[in-house]
Amino acid sequence: MGSNSHAFHNSVYIEYTNIPYPNKVRFDMRVRTGIEGFDALVEGGLPQGRQYLLSGSPGSGKTTFGVQFLAAGAMEGEAGGYVALSESIGTIIEDMSRYSLNIDDSIKKKKLFFLDIGPTMNYGDYDENSTLITTSYDQQSTESPANTPPTPHTVYKNVETLVKQYGIKRLVIDSLSAIRFTSQHPAMEERSIGRFIRNLKNLGCTTLLLSELLKPDAYTIEQFASHGVIFLHNYMDKQGNMSRALQIIKMRGTKHDCEMHGVEFTDKGLRVLKSVKK
Ligand SMILES: Nc1ncnc2c1ncn2[C@@H]1O[C@H](COP(=O)(O)OP(=O)(O)O)[C@@H](O)[C@H]1O
Ligand SMILES: [Mg+2]
Repeated sequence: MGSNSHAFHNSVYIEYTNIPYPNKVRFDMRVRTGIEGFDALVEGGLPQGRQYLLSGSPGSGKTTFGVQFLAAGAMEGEAGGYVALSESIGTIIEDMSRYSLNIDDSIKKKKLFFLDIGPTMNYGDYDENSTLITTSYDQQSTESPANTPPTPHTVYKNVETLVKQYGIKRLVIDSLSAIRFTSQHPAMEERSIGRFIRNLKNLGCTTLLLSELLKPDAYTIEQFASHGVIFLHNYMDKQGNMSRALQIIKMRGTKHDCEMHGVEFTDKGLRVLKSVKK
């Protein structure tokens, strides 16, 4: 342990020199998302080891984006984990297997894991490909009834186990909304979501936090606590057709694009198109 002045010295100079410190973001290490057209909007990829909020209405492509991101890592030998809190992993795998993303292959090679910790899942039902990792709840959660939503604390504990056990580098949490409304006290809930996101930082994974976009203009704790915020929009265009768009709202330490970009689904998942500005 250094003296106070030494600590002060570090705290002053650490931002301006190349002294490494544990949670320093490696802006030079960009994680390629595997989403065509996206990385060019964020200087080549997401800064490694941080948490990104991917927010959008139902059907806007959050799950697709998340699975594509993990599949891209898996194909480069980087293990990824998908944490399903509100939907069964059987359904997710089934739907996502329709894309050419080598999902089944990556699962078999143990580069892609699906962790099911939703409230209504049948544990152990889906384990023929070792896709379902059944980790038991810790002390706190065993006291809750089987169909109550998992709390941020229990989810974190399960995620931590998964990450350490399988060397997970990319993580998707689907969704933050599923653990958001578990407390009777709004202030406590804000704090526990903030703590959840901060704790995830310690795991060192590049993490996508999926979230239902309820109020685009409301600044929530998840937006403040995340390193970046991406919105997926579903809207009616002037001709009354349903259109999709993606917009990067925030990306710390990155010269990012701010425009609304068209989005389409291909056989490889999402593809980001040019700006929708006239
Ligand atoms: N194989 C596919 N080919 C083209 N589009 C698809 C395919 N599968 C799903 N979609 C589109 O993706 C939407 C669901 O995307 P998803 O990633 O599950 O959204 P979210 O997780 O935001 O609810 C569907 O409503 C459909 O429009
Ligand atoms: Mg989804």
